[in-house]
Amino acid sequence: MKSDLEAALVKTDWTPAPSDQGAKATKKLLVKSFGCQMNVYDAARMADVLAPEGFSETAAPEDADLVILNTCHIREKASEKVFSELGRLRRLKEERRAEGKDLRIAVAGCVAQAEGGEILRKQRAVDIVVGPQSYHRLPELVRLAADGPVIDTDFPVEDKFNHLTPPSEDRIRTRGLTAFLTVQEGCDKFCSFCVVPYTRGAEASRDVERIVAEAEALTRAGVREITLLGQNVNAFHGRGESNEVWSLARLIERLSEIDGLARLRYTTSHPNDMTDDLIRAHGEAAKLMPFLHLPVQSGSDRILAAMNRKHRAEDYLRLVEKIRAARPDIALSSDFIVGFPGETDEDFEATLALIRAVDFASTFYFKYSPRPGTPGAEREDHVAEEVKAERLARLGEKVEAQRQAFNRALVGRTVDVLFEKPGRRPGQIAGKSPYLQAVQADGPDSMIGDVAAVEIVECGSNSLFGRLTEEAR
Ligand code: 5AD
Ligand code: SF4
Repeated sequence: MKSDLEAALVKTDWTPAPSDQGAKATKKLLVKSFGCQMNVYDAARMADVLAPEGFSETAAPEDADLVILNTCHIREKASEKVFSELGRLRRLKEERRAEGKDLRIAVAGCVAQAEGGEILRKQRAVDIVVGPQSYHRLPELVRLAADGPVIDTDFPVEDKFNHLTPPSEDRIRTRGLTAFLTVQEGCDKFCSFCVVPYTRGAEASRDVERIVAEAEALTRAGVREITLLGQNVNAFHGRGESNEVWSLARLIERLSEIDGLARLRYTTSHPNDMTDDLIRAHGEAAKLMPFLHLPVQSGSDRILAAMNRKHRAEDYLRLVEKIRAARPDIALSSDFIVGFPGETDEDFEATLALIRAVDFASTFYFKYSPRPGTPGAEREDHVAEEVKAERLARLGEKVEAQRQAFNRALVGRTVDVLFEKPGRRPGQIAGKSPYLQAVQADGPDSMIGDVAAVEIVECGSNSLFGRLTEEAR
């Protein structure tokens, strides 16, 4: 006999719905994203795909007809959040039903991909489970959900990017002056702690032509800064017009030619894919910002090997030297995991030594969290929670001190700021430095969208304060 769950599993024989850009917005959509920037990008694509179906966005769950939880599975805490959020939504759905209305609940993102039907078992209020490869099918899934729960976590062979609705200029405008653009998805590295290769699948790159077209459309609609996204973005190997393979460096060079686009960034990268041409691009491509997120995870060769990172601490240090030689003012940031199985005090000290040697401008740090299905989770030498917590606090102190020193060192220096919005006080405008620091300065709203030179005069805990230079005023 079929279980409820199997009955819920609808294999969608999907044909694209006729696009109806003019449809009146009669339904409200809330996409709530957790996790990485890729999810922020995907959330915008989901809203774009559902706009022609009459969905307009709302920030209030009480107003929503459809709530999509765009989930993250990277660490245990991130996926736990989903289920507490679903509990709240179930109550809202019950209230709605009591009023004779409905609320559809969808779970998207990496938890959807990893857990699939399990989600319906754990929370029956869910109507749709949709994996990251299937967002172009959302209109159809929403329609099918009227007859019962639907699941779509297929890894289709075709390129999902090619099915996604491009956003209208108006929609881009409401999203601000900076934008994400996914150029690569998935990962083949299989670091032994990481679920990404399982939830996002094998590495795939978008075609150059489509990326350029999207970047041009963003720029036409006023976007000044684009961050190229990928789980392992520096492994980008998209196809050009004559089917030739482009590297990320070549793509950056091409995107730099777009008039009106002021800044380019990319994230996130693996040290082993930092090719010489990409390092050179840091010295040559003027629009490429001198700030690089290059996660190393650990400073111990033993742990790096156990993590399947396929490089040693020394290789990372040499790489940093090479990058700094190409672009002396570059600032670096990294991710670290403390308490990977088998990590000793000595291993942890090696991580602190690497942090001292590199001097990071900013750092993300996490306690190791065993993820189901990954080799790390199978190990028997897990580190005690108190030890992880103690190491996390020590590492945090160290990198926080480096971050603050980096910020303070900018006082008295002049940096370019891309102004994005009015500042906290009237007469102020706010933007970002090349190093993604928030900067406030006195200036007119008419400068929003401009990149202008700002002399930094003060350093707060989370923002820098500066004044426009004579030439910028
Ligand atoms: N436990 C803790 N941190 C993790 N990360 C990835 N997987 C895990 C895990 N299982 C961290 C890594 C990665 C960042 C995105 O999340 O540092 O670079
Ligand atoms: Fe995960 Fe990044 Fe390693 Fe890929 S390179 S497995 S995404 S940590």
